Amino acid sequence: MKIGIDKIGFYAPHLYVDMNNLAVARNVEPEKFTIGIGQEKMAIAPITQDPVTLAANAALGMIDEQDKESIDFVIFGTESGIDHSKSAGVYVHRLLGLNPYARTIELKQACYGATAAIQMAKGHVALNPKSKVLVLASDIARYGLNTSGESTQGAGAVALLISADPKILALEDNSAYMTDDIMDFWRPIYSDKAFVDGKFSNEQYILFFQKVWEEYKSKSGLGLADFEAICFHLPYTKMGLKALRTILDQGSEEDQERLLANYKISTIYNKNVGNIYTGSLYLSLLSLLEKMEEMEEGSRIGLFSYGSGAVGEFFTGVLQPNYSSYLNMSQHEELFNSRTEVTVPEYEEIFEKTLPVDGSTIELDIDNDPAVICLSGVQDNMRLYVNKLK
Ligand code: COA
Repeated sequence: MKIGIDKIGFYAPHLYVDMNNLAVARNVEPEKFTIGIGQEKMAIAPITQDPVTLAANAALGMIDEQDKESIDFVIFGTESGIDHSKSAGVYVHRLLGLNPYARTIELKQACYGATAAIQMAKGHVALNPKSKVLVLASDIARYGLNTSGESTQGAGAVALLISADPKILALEDNSAYMTDDIMDFWRPIYSDKAFVDGKFSNEQYILFFQKVWEEYKSKSGLGLADFEAICFHLPYTKMGLKALRTILDQGSEEDQERLLANYKISTIYNKNVGNIYTGSLYLSLLSLLEKMEEMEEGSRIGLFSYGSGAVGEFFTGVLQPNYSSYLNMSQHEELFNSRTEVTVPEYEEIFEKTLPVDGSTIELDIDNDPAVICLSGVQDNMRLYVNKLK
């Protein structure tokens, strides 16, 4: 039985800052951010968007009434969870009006969370072929103003529907994964900003990629010639390129050209959104699927997932017939075209605005947020969410 991605949705908040302007404000050459890091625009979450609303908005445009009945498992991958106890997925379950007879959980392992969710979903569908699993990958990347990680922030969510007989990408069984206890990036529970050893995280990302790639090759007997494209977890778009370059000499000139050209296409969305942590790999996949001319049915796509701390995995999927007719391209194009640019001082003000942590009540103005699902306030230590369509 084929199991894989049946639908894929995406949402980013409507505000962004231009990386050229951020560079000027931080007194660095714009090319450092646009070429050295490889980012053009960075999505900014207003206070009315949090990981719950971003995920709900991503799924809202993707699922239909039949999906709402068939989804019996919701897995929310995030490293910016809003509660130590309750799963962010439970809020989304209600906001989307899903079938109550569903399991809902939250999974965490830095940017690897959504990949763990997909693998768990695959196992669930293998045992329950009629089930559909809603995987949500949602994060707000915060390093802090004037930090070296600032240029690699972002916000957004990807929603994936995992089912039998998927219409977009059938996941293959060969996969290679590894764990090593390292401190390249972490966020203690008392901090709303991440701590990072940037250079070390770059090195470890590449090392993990090389190790799982070698392990994958020995398990599968496949090599670069068998891949139409390889998508990467993209904390910033130069990162995947650095890793890809280290194995390119294993392929022919034609393989190298194809993989480099397709890599570029797989970074278009990420360049314009920034780091969305656990959703980044799947935003890159979406970019490849939506920005590339129709790829041949049966083409194999590699996926490299990396979550600091660290866990890495290389796995693959095969494109299904007419996959492009099941994508929501126009919806995503509209999302990108209708965004509003903010100045650097405006971004700084939004960044510093946080919710009360002393139990006080706050009512938020959701009229300026075009999203359907918003955070409308906090009362008695509870976040209040609204779906404007209900
Ligand atoms: N024109 C073109 N490129 C330029 C440039 C210019 N004027 N100035 C600098 N650069 C290049 C540098 O050469 C470097 O490229 P390289 O890595 O290919 O050598 C790149 O821009 C970044 O410069 P660097 O000095 O390394 O940046 P930094 O010290 O500010 O840190 C990160 C960059 C990514 C380490 C930092 O943003 C970070 O810690 N981010 C969060 C962690 C992360 O994303 N880790 C990834 C693995 S999960």
